[in-house]
Amino acid sequence: MRFTLNGAPAEVDAHPMKRLLDVLREECGLTGTKEGCGEGECGACTVLIDGEPVVSCLIPFAQARETEVVTIEGLGGEHPYQRAFAEFSGAQCGICTPGMILAAVALGPAPTLEEVRTGLAGNLCRCTGYEAIYRAIHSVSE
Ligand code: FES
Ligand code: FES
Repeated sequence: MRFTLNGAPAEVDAHPMKRLLDVLREECGLTGTKEGCGEGECGACTVLIDGEPVVSCLIPFAQARETEVVTIEGLGGEHPYQRAFAEFSGAQCGICTPGMILAAVALGPAPTLEEVRTGLAGNLCRCTGYEAIYRAIHSVSE
């Protein structure tokens, strides 16, 4: 099945009902996308499909056909949000971090603090207490 993965054409032979999360990790070797709950509740597995954040543990691979998928690897490691998470201690264990960052990317270039809080409401973190995460993301738009 063909799709665009992190800006490059991709063709992956996997069962259409396999979870997109597993296809990315196992077939594509992109282990930056994390599994938390596996039930669509925590947001750890968030990736972007055509710019929209989706929980890849609930998405069958078939839904990625002819779309543009972006994982945390697609940000290249030097994205301002990635740097801000390091600077503001927005990541501790790191399980939630890729999903948080991609959910933030979907908010657009300069989200307000309120937009950050609302936009990341579906992304759970067990470590940080959230304030460091919100500060990290908001710092980029200040
Ligand atoms: S692992 Fe997908 S939402 Fe929790
Ligand atoms: S940093 Fe550990 S779950 Fe968020």
